Amino acid sequence: MTTNPQQTPPLLEVRGLTKTFPATVALSEVDFTLQAGDVHVLVGENGAGKSTLIKLITGVHRKDAGTILLEGKEIDPRSPRHAQELGISTVYQEVNLIPTLSVAENIFLGRQPMRWGMINMRAVERQAKQLLKDFHVDIDVTRNLSAYSVAIQQIVAIVRGVSLSVKVLILDEPTSSLDHNEVEMLFSVIRSLQARGMGIILITHFLDQVYAIANRVTVLRNGKKVGEHLISELPRVQLITEMLGKELTHDTNNHNHHATSQYADSDLFLKVRGFARKGTIEPFDLDIHRGEIVGLAGLLGSGRTEMARLIFGIEQHDSGEVYINGQPARIKSPRHAIRYGFGLCPE
Ligand SMILES: Nc1ncnc2c1ncn2[C@@H]1O[C@H](COP(=O)(O)OP(=O)(O)O)[C@@H](O)[C@H]1O
Ligand SMILES: [Mg+2]
Repeated sequence: MTTNPQQTPPLLEVRGLTKTFPATVALSEVDFTLQAGDVHVLVGENGAGKSTLIKLITGVHRKDAGTILLEGKEIDPRSPRHAQELGISTVYQEVNLIPTLSVAENIFLGRQPMRWGMINMRAVERQAKQLLKDFHVDIDVTRNLSAYSVAIQQIVAIVRGVSLSVKVLILDEPTSSLDHNEVEMLFSVIRSLQARGMGIILITHFLDQVYAIANRVTVLRNGKKVGEHLISELPRVQLITEMLGKELTHDTNNHNHHATSQYADSDLFLKVRGFARKGTIEPFDLDIHRGEIVGLAGLLGSGRTEMARLIFGIEQHDSGEVYINGQPARIKSPRHAIRYGFGLCPE
């Protein structure tokens, strides 16, 4: 991170960026600063303007007003390719590489090492393998890109960007279709890039991921910037409040809108009291009666999945009690849950 902002300009600085589409002001006078070594996460509800901000920085769209400075010098990216030449690379959820070429060819596409007028394939493969190994990804680079998962394909796209001596890496919702392990793999790559002093802009709507990877967060709402915070100083409730533009009372935060009246107490199958897990979910109560369907509603990242995982024993609760048919029960693992007659269909 920059220690003396007077002397070193930020890696990337955006001032007063504005973009209007025929029917919408997609972005309105937005300021945004990325320091080298930062993972700066952009959050906001659908339509908040996150992708538009990225597309202006990477030359997909042309800005109506505002300035973009890279290392203190004004730039005007005319296309994603131009942005890439300037040192700004983007990885989208759909990787824009060529699935029918090998991993190695994709990494060096358009700039293969030549030998006697021919592409030196062995050199391409050796270098590609080493680049991936730097990120602890050990795969066969001679296989087609399409042979690999979306996560690996994204990492290949990142490695391509890195090998083009990129300074700013932008990831727009890369994790939407990744599973937990793949997200971890991607995050470990992001952390090593951060350690090398690259600046990373990440868009994700999973709040857990924001807290796992970000050191700085900017919140957009209706095309405007509504907040910028160090993640260490931003409570979750405040983040959600800024995203929504509404105060969350304790009441709306965790409330049981329960139609208990139609069920007899003797029909109470599952009774959960004060279940919680530090750093994951605040204490909650839950009642489920025989024959009842209970819905868990909330924003992405609000804790619905975590609640289910806690009840099913995948995650361990560290406080609270559970009663099944009125008897105290012990659910410390899925095996216990199954023994009590629980089933879980994950997302
Ligand atoms: N190419 C476009 N043409 C017209 N409207 C657009 C276009 N791209 C985005 N918008 C509008 O701009 C607003 C911001 O969109 P976007 O930046 O994609 O939001 P986010 O990525 O935060 O979900 C939305 O109202 C969206 O409908
Ligand atoms: Mg978007």
